[in-house]
This record gives sequence, C-alpha cells and structure tokens, in this order.
Amino acid sequence: MADNKAKLTIAETSVDLDVLSPTLGSKVIDIRTLGSKGYYTYDPGFTSTASCESKITFIDGDNGILLHRGFPIGQLATESTYLEVCYILLYGEAPTQEQYDKFKTTVTRHTMIHEQITRLFNGFRRDSHPMAVLCGVTGALAAFYHDALDVSNPVHRDITAYRLLSKMPTVAAMCYKYSIGQPFVYPKNDLSYAGNFLHMMFATPCEEYVVNPVLERAMDRIFILHADHEQNASTSTVRTAGSSGANPFACIAAGIASLWGPAHGGANEACLRMLEEIKTVEHIPEFIKRAKDKNDSFRLMGFGHRVYKNYDPRATVMRETCHEVLKELNLNDSLLEVAMELERIALNDPYFIEKKLYPNVDFYSGIILKALGIPSNMFTVIFAIARTIGWIAHWNEMHEDGLKIARPRQLYTGYSERDFKSEIKKK
Ligand code: ACO
Repeated sequence: MADNKAKLTIAETSVDLDVLSPTLGSKVIDIRTLGSKGYYTYDPGFTSTASCESKITFIDGDNGILLHRGFPIGQLATESTYLEVCYILLYGEAPTQEQYDKFKTTVTRHTMIHEQITRLFNGFRRDSHPMAVLCGVTGALAAFYHDALDVSNPVHRDITAYRLLSKMPTVAAMCYKYSIGQPFVYPKNDLSYAGNFLHMMFATPCEEYVVNPVLERAMDRIFILHADHEQNASTSTVRTAGSSGANPFACIAAGIASLWGPAHGGANEACLRMLEEIKTVEHIPEFIKRAKDKNDSFRLMGFGHRVYKNYDPRATVMRETCHEVLKELNLNDSLLEVAMELERIALNDPYFIEKKLYPNVDFYSGIILKALGIPSNMFTVIFAIARTIGWIAHWNEMHEDGLKIARPRQLYTGYSERDFKSEIKKK
C-alpha cells in the first residue's frame, strides 16, 4: 500500500514515513515509527487520525458519498432490506437468495431473550431513560453469554453477531413496554425484522397489531440508514473496548453509552425537542440568530456533521420517506412545516453555507419516528438497534485483523515531579 514517502523534519533530525494509499479517499501517513524516535502526534478528537484499517464503509464527506462494502447508500436504501445490508456489512458481499434465506431464518430464530432478563427490568425505575435501560440490559447479556465464548474463534463471533442482531429489537421494545407499564410482547417469527419490532412495540395481549407496509418499510429504511458510519464515536468506542478482548455484549453496551450523547445519536431526540420549541415558522429567525451567536451555546440540532461538509446522502432518502409516511397517515404535521422552512433558511444563510452546515440524517428521522407513534426518548434506542450491526461488523473485523490494544498517548501539561507532604491527620 505504501507507494510514497513523507519526510518529517524536527530540528536537526528527519524521519522518513510511509504514505499509504487507500482504495478511496485521502492518503494516510504511517506514523507508527515516530514513537521510537521520541515523538508523538497530537490530535484531540481524532480529526486527522486513522485509528485502524477497514474495508467496511467509505465516506467522502465533501461530496456527500456513503458506501457500504462499495455499494452506495441511496441504492441500498431503495433496493435492499435492512437484513440484506446487515449481511453485506458482516460478510462483505451481497447475499444470494439461498444465503439470504438462511441468514434471515437464523436471525429470526434467535429473537427471544433469556426469561430471567425480564426480571432484571424490575430493578429499573419506570421513568428511567430507555437508553439507560438498554445500556444496562445489553451489558447484562454478557452474564448470559460469557464462559463458553471464545472471541478469537470466528464461529463464536458469528454466533455473537446473530445473537446481538436478533435480540436487540426485543430488548429495545421491552425498554418501551416497561416504561409505559404494559406487558412485554414476544417476538413473532413470521414478521419481517422491522415489522416484528413494530409488533413488539405496539401489540398488546388484548389487541393484535397489524403491520402497515408503508410504516414497516419506513422503519426498515431508518434501520438501513443508521446501520454503519465507519469510525464514529460509538464504533470507535466498541473497537476500543473490544481491543482488550472484552466480552462483546459489554463492548456493545459501551457503544450504546457513547451513542447516547446529543452530539452523536442523541441528536434526533434533541432535534425533535428543538422543532417543538420553535413551534411555528414565525419563530425560526429568532432561533437562527441564536445558533449564530458565539455567546449562545444553542446549536441547530440536526445540522452539521464532523465528516459531511455537504448534504448528508442519508438525509435525502430520509426526507422522501418522511413525506411517504406523513401522506400514508394523512398527517399534516406542523413540525414538518417548521423543519422544511428551517432547512430552506439554513441552506441559504451565509453562516451555514460558509461553515458547510447541512441537514444530517437526524433532521428527518425524528419526524418519521414521531409519526410512527414512537416517543422521542426512544429515538436513540432505535438508532442503537440499527447501529448494532455496524458495531459488530467493526468488532469482528478488528478481531480478524489481529487484536492490538487501543492505547492512545497524551500531551501531558500537568505538574512536573514534586514532593508529597500529607496534611491529613492520621489516627
Ligand atoms: N448550529 C450552529 N452552529 C454550528 C452547528 C450547528 N448545528 N454545528 C457546528 N456549528 C459551528 C460551530 O459553532 C463552529 O463555529 P466556529 O468555527 O465559529 O467556532 C463550526 O460550526 C464548526 O463546529 P464544530 O463543533 O467545530 O464541528 P464538529 O465537526 O466538531 O462538530 C457536530 C460536528 C458535533 C455534529 C456539530 O455540527 C453539532 O453539534 N451539530 C448539532 C448536533 C447534531 O445534529 N449532531 C448529529 C450528528 S450526526 C449523527 O451522529 C448521526
């Protein structure tokens, strides 16, 4: 891969470094030998650092391109199902009909969780945030799948992938049912992945839930559009946690914790809250003014992205789906009106143009989920269901490539060595 050299000159010393050429994207300077010369690089937030090599997802943020195993996200969102995308992310190729049927059957047959887990829920307050419950219960799954699990064995890793992919919607729906005091609804194997999730969310023992195909497709699309996004905060967290050889269920719980923050997966919930706060189009200018004010911490939620400095390609599909769902449900949501006007104003405002702040995927997903009847505190939970496959695919790739424990260096700016003198009275 190294087809070029870079020379780094520090005072009198110069160091030759390999320049690596990826299949797509920017060249990467291999700095691995720098440490032995007594230097580290400093890059808080990893804005210029590749933490690993990967073959799963490619993003060109300047041109709004997102590819999974080479396939454009727009094509995947319109022509595949979420489970097909899962197969592609995990195994690298599109499945044949036979491979797909087998994959789907295996995922469907692992959707139930150990009955003892249902009792674990009683330890949580009913008003707990569902992300807190999801994080806790996913971590607790490690207690059920640990002793016999050898993470260095590819067959064991495959079984882990199936378990996580199959069980995550069940646990997520249980988080919701627990919060509203309804009994848990068991999975139904004749439904699709998305249809089964909607069934577990909305059916009750007294009333069947008939899955509407338009809403089922919208749910499936939301899952597809959130399936993976290369080395984002939560995926990097899963890789970091997994790099020590830790239990994968615990690693996924770490990923869920990272996803929860409003600068990452929590943005869809925050975006809907913001639209509700704006309420009507007349109030938009006031919020735009606040977003631009350096002394105001307010940001337009659903705008901007660390990597996309162009339209988020997922937002384009999400926008279409949003219209389909609102038409199907005959909803004339005033929030959508606010969202459209906000998008129009922001895309024409010099501040947002200059800083390349475009609507991201979360901008529309919140409106769709609200229309589906899903409460806003469940939005990030749904993101976590979808992203689980990305987390597993990266965790698996890291194991395939050979584990190297993640151990960043630091720029130490604390005290130099000094003498310790205790002022505490000893008994
Ligand atoms: N509204 C107003 N101004 C913004 C916004 C925003 N949403 N986002 C960035 N800016 C401004 C910043 O104030 C900063 O201005 P300055 O250069 O004058 O200081 C500049 O744009 C760059 O912002 P950074 O925070 O340095 O950009 P970074 O790449 O680190 O952050 C992030 C990206 C966190 C997504 C940011 O744009 C943001 O907070 N957006 C709102 C939250 C959001 O929608 N997150 C979802 C991300 S997508 C996902 O996780 C699926």
